[in-house]
Amino acid sequence: MNEELKNTLLRALHAGADQLKKYFDGTFEIKSKERLNDLVTEVDKKSETAIIDVIQDEYPDHFILSEEVGEISTDSNYKWIIDPIDGTVNFAHGIPICCVSIGVELDGKLLMGAVFNPFMNELFFAEKGKGAFLNNKPLKISDNKSVKTACLVTGFPYRWVEVGKDPIKVFERFIRMGLPVRRLGSAAIDLCWVAAGRFDGFWEYNLNPWDIAAGYLIIEEAGGKVTNFNGDPYSVYDKQTLATNGKIHEEMLKVINE
Ligand code: IPD
Ligand code: CA
Ligand code: CA
Repeated sequence: MNEELKNTLLRALHAGADQLKKYFDGTFEIKSKERLNDLVTEVDKKSETAIIDVIQDEYPDHFILSEEVGEISTDSNYKWIIDPIDGTVNFAHGIPICCVSIGVELDGKLLMGAVFNPFMNELFFAEKGKGAFLNNKPLKISDNKSVKTACLVTGFPYRWVEVGKDPIKVFERFIRMGLPVRRLGSAAIDLCWVAAGRFDGFWEYNLNPWDIAAGYLIIEEAGGKVTNFNGDPYSVYDKQTLATNGKIHEEMLKVINE
């Protein structure tokens, strides 16, 4: 069953990514969602349709949660959590840091996750208990033990006013410590790059399950740690995400909560 599921997951991922590649250099319609710069393109929808078609062809009764269509609700134990383009603003501006991200839950727990950036040809995959891989090579989290020498990544929400803590203040604290802090514009890629040991830590407020589901499992299976800002066990439905190599987790929590 899991092999079949994995095949479908990868086929769906590629079907979506084919749409990103097809339209990247071309013209496509871009619209604002609730905020002027919270964008959706017609390619988000084409990618989403292509992904869902592959999944439903194989598993017509599975539950689907996908960013643009929302919930296709069934009483299945399986739930597919889909971001048809993570990094839409990058995509719309011709910046090749964007991806398709798909996670699969079984009975409310993540079973598989995959993230594919077709422009860098990087496919991240993890299955619960079986490790995490980049283009089939095992992934390992970084070894850095101190936040003082860490390389971090973050992102900022579109809906600024609704956020309790001020993300700029947290960002400022890390910058004032002299740390390199990057902002790539794709939470799924941020998480995968922590799993790959390129970054030591990532935090962000107000992400959605489709931004995080696959990347969360990929980090865990690479040996990293993900919690909310209280350090509690994580759920992809949480609104605070701290993902690290585990070794700098407590130190980062302190700075975030200062
Ligand atoms: C966004 C990206 C970005 C993050 C935003 C997300 P989208 O997803 O992951 O890095 O900062 O909060 O909404 O809109 O490109 O799918
Ligand atoms: Ca997203
Ligand atoms: Ca998206």
